[in-house]
Amino acid sequence: MSRPKPKIGTLGQFLILSIALLFLFLFIQSPNYVCKYPPPDPFYRPQFSAVEGLDSDYGSLGVPWCRSKHGLTVKWTTKDLLRGLEEFVPIYETRPIKNNMYGMGFDHSFGLWFIARWLKPDLMIESGAFKGHSTWVLRQAMPEAAIISLSPRHPEKYLRKEPAYVDGNCTYFAGKDFVDFGSVDWNNILNKHGVTDLSRVLVFFDDHQNELKRLKQALKAGFTHLVFEDNYDTGTGDHYSFRQMCDQFYIKGGGHSCFRDSDEARTREKRRKFWEKAVDIEELCGPGDAWWGVRGDMRDNFNHSNKAISLSKHFENSRFVESVLDVYWELPPVAGTSLTHQTRYDPARATVPIVEDGRYGLFQKLGLTRLETSVFNGYTQMVYLQISRPDS
Ligand SMILES: C[S@@+](CC[C@H](N)C(=O)[O-])C[C@H]1O[C@@H](n2cnc3c(N)ncnc32)[C@H](O)[C@@H]1O
Repeated sequence: MSRPKPKIGTLGQFLILSIALLFLFLFIQSPNYVCKYPPPDPFYRPQFSAVEGLDSDYGSLGVPWCRSKHGLTVKWTTKDLLRGLEEFVPIYETRPIKNNMYGMGFDHSFGLWFIARWLKPDLMIESGAFKGHSTWVLRQAMPEAAIISLSPRHPEKYLRKEPAYVDGNCTYFAGKDFVDFGSVDWNNILNKHGVTDLSRVLVFFDDHQNELKRLKQALKAGFTHLVFEDNYDTGTGDHYSFRQMCDQFYIKGGGHSCFRDSDEARTREKRRKFWEKAVDIEELCGPGDAWWGVRGDMRDNFNHSNKAISLSKHFENSRFVESVLDVYWELPPVAGTSLTHQTRYDPARATVPIVEDGRYGLFQKLGLTRLETSVFNGYTQMVYLQISRPDS
């Protein structure tokens, strides 16, 4: 038995249709009713699968790190870094040296500025100034603090031909007055600057010297806060770096095998095609399958000198670093590769970026879309270290 259907008159149908249209209209118009997705990245490059080697998959080939004595880490958080980025982008846009090829790009400029601002040192020491871009970055972070800059060629020399930066409140040991960091009488210099508390000093190295050598020199002088610009990955770079030193089997993400028929060898071969600085197993492994440092070598001074070291010596170096390390912090890349379009460092050997892939809205909000993509090409795992003498 069928029930009689309720009847809706023409007026009823009209009312229902009007209400439905009104809801639809409100839903589309009001920002309170909708979840807004960021507009699509106009330059978005579709991600190839990991098989083809272009996928970002951060850290998939391991991210070794240096262990600290007591497991301490930095106090700042990703939120602090994001706030910092928002503040730093407009500052970076005013930089006097727009073309800083062979010097720092955006990621490391931000890292240095952020660390200096966080620590608020009374004195900043820089080794390796080139045209003066990093001196300018330090000055932006701490407008009043004294700076000491060591560099064989004085930045003022560049000024004759191109934009460079010479700071008014900086003592230069440069040109004919150049002294290498390891030969400076730091007691005397710090006395002259009225510095008695060495924890109020930040030392920045961008001089392409063996970082183990620099660590020992800094430790001897009593410095505690150090930043190294080029913390090269294993198999790359022109000087022995912390990243290389701490690439060890006993550390998560560290150590390599030179076995050609391995997953690592296959993945590296594919990634080499897409990321300029990625190294395949042929490049990674030197004679006798030596993979540590650069093919078993400990490089120094822009690779003007290099010395073969054994795996056990390499291991000893890492243990020494751990014995003096209070904090080790690698600056993450500022943003994912689908946002920055950088093609040099391999994300498979890097930590997750501050602005992750897919967050175009945030990338844009921070002002990062205003920068030329080339400024994102210089990332080499800048590292901040806090050190103290080994525990007795
Ligand atoms: C990569 S550049 C520095 C870039 C600069 N920090 C910047 O961000 O623009 C390396 C610099 O280190 C300098 N240098 C070479 N040997 C040095 C040493 N023993 N001590 C200090 N600086 C050195 C070079 O002359 C060069 O200016």
